[in-house]
Amino acid sequence: MRKIKTLTVKAEKKYKVYIGENLLKTCGKILKTEVLIKKPPRRILTVCDSRVAPLYFDSLKKSLTDAGFEVFLFTFESGEEHKNVDTLSKIIDAAAQNRLDRHDLFAALGGGTAGDLCGLAASLYMRGVRYLQFPTTLLACIDAAIGGKTACNTTYGKNLMGSFYSPDAVIIDPVTLTSLPQEIYSQGIAEAVKYGIISDRKILKILLGDFDNADLIYRCVKAKARFINKDFTEKGERKILNFGHTAAHAIEKVSNYQISHGQAVAAGIITAIKYSEKCGVCGKDLLRDIMPIYHKFGLCDSAGLPPCDLAAAALCDKKSCGENVDLVLIKDICRPVIVKVKKERLKDFFEVDL
Ligand code: GLY
Repeated sequence: MRKIKTLTVKAEKKYKVYIGENLLKTCGKILKTEVLIKKPPRRILTVCDSRVAPLYFDSLKKSLTDAGFEVFLFTFESGEEHKNVDTLSKIIDAAAQNRLDRHDLFAALGGGTAGDLCGLAASLYMRGVRYLQFPTTLLACIDAAIGGKTACNTTYGKNLMGSFYSPDAVIIDPVTLTSLPQEIYSQGIAEAVKYGIISDRKILKILLGDFDNADLIYRCVKAKARFINKDFTEKGERKILNFGHTAAHAIEKVSNYQISHGQAVAAGIITAIKYSEKCGVCGKDLLRDIMPIYHKFGLCDSAGLPPCDLAAAALCDKKSCGENVDLVLIKDICRPVIVKVKKERLKDFFEVDL
C-alpha cells in the first residue's frame, strides 16, 4: 500500500486530514487507534446519496465494522434540490431511530452535499455529536470537506442555514475519483486553479503536467488549511478563499443552478482576473498562464449571462452586507487583495466579460 499523507487543520479544534489510496477499505483501524481514542463511539450513521452509496458504502462499512463499530446508512436522492431542511430532518430522525447517543458519530460519504448536510445534522443532533468526512469528489476533497462549513439550502437561497463545525477527521481515498465523470472531476479542478492563483503557484504547474490526484489534493488541502488555521470563522483572511465566488454564486443563481458550482467558479475566476486588470490592481497577463489549464480540462471562461442580472443576484448573496461588497481581486499570482466595492458599481465588475 502507498504511503498515507496527513495534514493538520487547526480550527476550533485540531483534526487531521488523511490522504491515501484505498483508505475507505482500511480506515477502521486508523480511526480506532488514532482518531476516536477518547470516548470511542459504538454507533456510526453514514450519510450518503443514492448515487454514491452503491459504489462505496459496503467497503466503508466492512472496514468500520471490522474495527468494532456498528454502522448504519441513511441515503437521500442525489442532487442539489435535496439539500434541504426535509433531508436534514430525516438524517436526525435516522440517528434517533438507530439509537445513536451523544458519544456516537455521523459520517459523511460523498460530495459536498452529503458533507454539508451531515455536518449540519451532526452539529444539531443532541446539541452536537462528532462526525467524519469521507469526500468522494475532487471538489469535496479539496474544498467542501475541509474547513468545517456545514450547510443546507432554504426556500430563500443556497446554504442560508449552516454552522461552523469541524469534523474529527477527513479521510480522503483518491481511488474514488476514478469513478467520477470527467465533467464532475473538472469542477474540482476549478477550485484547484483558485488555490494556484491565490496561494500556491506550483499547483498551476502541476495541473499543466501529468499528476497524481493524491499529490494535487495534498497541495490544495495544505493551501486551504493555511487560511482556516488563521481565520476559521471567516472574519478576515478566509474571505480570500472566495476568490472567483462572488461571480460564481451569481452565475449559479441566474442560471437557475443549470451551471454547476465548479463551472461557475471557473467563469468567476476569469471575471475576477479581468476586473483586477481593468481597474489597475493587476498589471500582469495572468490569463496567459491560466487559459491552457482551462482548455485542458474543458473549464468555462464565461457564463454569457446579462451583467445586470448577475449584479442583482450578487446583491442578494449572503456575503454581501452594508453599502459595499468585498471583492477578492488579484495583484499577481499569490498576491490576492480584498477590495471594497460600492454595491452600485457591481455591474462594472460583471461587464468585464462583455
Ligand atoms: N469554500 C470556501 C471556504 O470554505 O471558506
